[in-house]
Amino acid sequence: MHTPVLLQQAIENLNVRLGSLYIDATFGEGGYSSEILKKGGRVLAIDWDIDQLKNYGLRITDLKLIQGNFSEIEKIAKENDFFPIDGVVFDLGLSMKQIEESGRGFSYNRPDEPLDMRLSLDNKLTAKDLIKELSEEELYEVFAKNSEEIKSKEIAYEVKKRKKMETVSDLIYVIDKALGFKSNQTYARIFQALRIELNDEFENLKKGLKGAVDILKKDGRVVVVSFHSLEDRIVKNFVKEKKLKFLFKKPIRGFRSFERSAKLRTIIK
Ligand SMILES: C[S@@+](CC[C@H](N)C(=O)[O-])C[C@H]1O[C@@H](n2cnc3c(N)ncnc32)[C@H](O)[C@@H]1O
Repeated sequence: MHTPVLLQQAIENLNVRLGSLYIDATFGEGGYSSEILKKGGRVLAIDWDIDQLKNYGLRITDLKLIQGNFSEIEKIAKENDFFPIDGVVFDLGLSMKQIEESGRGFSYNRPDEPLDMRLSLDNKLTAKDLIKELSEEELYEVFAKNSEEIKSKEIAYEVKKRKKMETVSDLIYVIDKALGFKSNQTYARIFQALRIELNDEFENLKKGLKGAVDILKKDGRVVVVSFHSLEDRIVKNFVKEKKLKFLFKKPIRGFRSFERSAKLRTIIK
C-alpha cells in the first residue's frame, strides 16, 4: 500500500489513546485508520467515494466504515452513536489509487480518460458538464479563484471556443493553445481548480470542520492535512472565528517530493 502523506506526524498529533473515539473523515486506502486502530483507538471512517470503501477488507477489522460526505460528519457520528469524540483527521484531496485507477480523469497524465472528476458518483454533474454549463466568465472565475493561474482568462477562452471537450487530452490541448507551450504546473493547477469547484471542496471543508468541533470533547484534536493554500486559509480562519487554538503555530510540512505542498495543522478544542 502507498504510504499516505504525513501519516506518522498526523497520528502523533492526534494523540491516540486506548479505547478513545476517533473519526477518520477521509478513509481513502485506510492508512490512517489502520494506525489509529493499532494504537488502540476506536474508529469510525468516512469516504465519499464508494470505490474507496472497497479498500476495506479483512485487513482492517474493528472499524465502522460509512459512505458519505464529511460535510455531514456530525449527522453521521450521531446516526452511528459515535460521539462525543476525542479526535478527527481530515487528509484532504485524492488518494494515489484514485488518481491512478479510478478512470475519472483526475490526472493530466491520463490523456484518454473522460473529464469526469467526480469524487462521489452520487454527484450527477461531471467536469465535462460543468465546463459546458459555465459561461466563459464563470469558468475564468473558477480558474482564477481556485488556481490563481495567471493565464486563467486565456484558458477559459480556449476551453469555451473548442467544441469537443470530452477527455483529459482535450483539456490539455486547449491549455497548450492558451499558453503557447507545455506546462505540467499549469495542467495540475487547472485540473485541481475544476475538481475543487465540481466537488464543492472548500464548502465541504468549512462544514466538516464545524461539524467535527461540535462533536469533539474538550481538549480533543482535529488534524487537517491540506494541499492547497486556500484550504489552509479556511483552517486558519475557522480557528480564529471559533477562538480555538493550534497545537503548533506553524504548520508541519511534507518533505518527500510528492508531499511538498502538504501542510498539517492540529486544532485543539
Ligand atoms: C488523500 S485521500 C486519504 C488517504 C487516507 N488518509 C489513507 O490513509 O489512505 C482523501 C480521501 O478523501 C476522500 N474525500 C474527499 N472529499 C471527501 C468528502 N467531502 N467527504 C468524504 N470523503 C472525502 C477521497 O475520496 C479520498 O479517498
